[in-house]
Amino acid sequence: MADKQVETTGHQWDDEEGFPLQEFNNPLPRWWLYSFYATILFAVIYWILYPAWPIPGGFTKGVLGWSQYQELQKEMTDAQSARKVFDDRLSAASLEEIAANPQLLAYAKAGGRALFANQCAGCHGTEGSGTTQGFPILVDDDWLYGGTLQEIYATIANGRSGTMPPHLQAAGGAFSEAQVNDLADFVLTLSNRPADKAAAERGKALFMGDAGCHLCHGDHGRGSVLDTLGGQPLDHNTGAPNLTDGIWLHGGDRATIVQTIARGRASKMPAWGVDSGESLGRNLGPLAVKQLALYVHGLGGGK
Ligand code: HEC
Ligand code: HEC
Repeated sequence: MADKQVETTGHQWDDEEGFPLQEFNNPLPRWWLYSFYATILFAVIYWILYPAWPIPGGFTKGVLGWSQYQELQKEMTDAQSARKVFDDRLSAASLEEIAANPQLLAYAKAGGRALFANQCAGCHGTEGSGTTQGFPILVDDDWLYGGTLQEIYATIANGRSGTMPPHLQAAGGAFSEAQVNDLADFVLTLSNRPADKAAAERGKALFMGDAGCHLCHGDHGRGSVLDTLGGQPLDHNTGAPNLTDGIWLHGGDRATIVQTIARGRASKMPAWGVDSGESLGRNLGPLAVKQLALYVHGLGGGK
């Protein structure tokens, strides 16, 4: 309208009737305009200082040379050099020295725990609590190959193969089914369980005689780590289990014991050391094996 003072852009159509069609101009508030200019300025400065625009073959790097990737690299190098101090001390110290140093031991075990979860838990169960038959529990005091730091280290680095020979004629052994049953009766008595007395007596004679079970399991059936043969210690590397303690690698019910004696057993603990010559494709360096040995030793049953 003519009496209302409004700002126009100067454009005007259709003037003949005295009602011009005009284009109004509504200016934006000042504060809004200035903040808008400020954001533009900010963007331009940002483009100059920091990586911003994709260009053929890369992106504009910015004059500060900052990059998220470099930040990450720096943080990783910092973390690695902090770890390296400890790793070097671990590498230089013997297993026994580490075990005697609470700070080093805690660091070694933390590393061993993580490695164990990745590499070992699949067979031995979380934290070594394995319940699957054929895979030894590592949290107890019962060792097939010995529970000293050195022995555990050797087990992990070089692997182990436990072989219980078959005894039933049909499976390549030298004994009848009746004799295998007699042996099973005797094995049951070793862990104080009910068994046929006469059969167990016959089984005992075989165990200590013709069948030669004692040569590996010892004169008292307590296994190659704990038992003796004619008063002499046995070779721990045989891995013959203690048959008296109620802890079973393959199972302690009568049927399973008969099966073990008749058909034999063969178990394999893979080798993890770099020099083991086995190519699992996931070999671990001496430092990692050390950390694992200390961790496993500390699980509860280490000697
Ligand atoms: C593929 C399955 C498998 C994996 C993976 C495995 N083990 Fe074993 N481990 C076995 C078997 C089977 C035995 C028993 C061997 C035997 O009876 O002769 C064993 C035995 C052992 C023993 C000896 C226990 C004793 O009573 O003397 C230790 C210690 C051990 N493993 C530690 C480890 C560690 C540490 C790792 C990870 C680096 C690992 N194992 C990974 C299968 C596995
Ligand atoms: C050459 C040594 C050797 C001889 C001889 C031997 N064993 Fe074994 N026995 C072993 C080994 C090693 C194992 C463990 C196998 C494994 O690691 O899977 C074993 C395992 C067993 C087990 C299973 C234990 C468990 O925890 O599940 C029984 C039972 C057993 N033997 C009984 C006997 C009897 C009975 C005889 C004699 C007839 C005998 N063994 C002769 C080495 C021997």
